Amino acid sequence: MSRCIQAGSIDELVPGQRKLVFVDGRSIALFNIDGTLSAIDNSCPHNGASLANGQLEGTLLRCPAHGLRFDVTTGCMPGSVGLRLKTFPIRVVEGELEVVLDEPAPQRCDSLACSRENSGG
Ligand code: FES
Repeated sequence: MSRCIQAGSIDELVPGQRKLVFVDGRSIALFNIDGTLSAIDNSCPHNGASLANGQLEGTLLRCPAHGLRFDVTTGCMPGSVGLRLKTFPIRVVEGELEVVLDEPAPQRCDSLACSRENSGG
């Protein structure tokens, strides 16, 4: 079953901003890039470094540790099929951000199977 976590108000993630939320001992980095929302696991798939403060170039996020770049909208590395960043569906419901965990397809969040809980952050 999918789970939606509430990640605060959309007003806290206006275009150009990023935000960290914490749930179940993991951190998830949220980005608003020109109105497009993205949510990623804040752990680089290369060696686990925090990605939240990495430099953004468009939708490409550069890991502060060793410089690998990942597209925050897809999780993919440009020009490589090697490592892939974990991404999560994110949406806005009545002005509140919701991130879907353990969800293979974003549209399933619309089902009643989605249970909500607070992110605590
Ligand atoms: S830990 Fe991110 S590139 Fe090495």
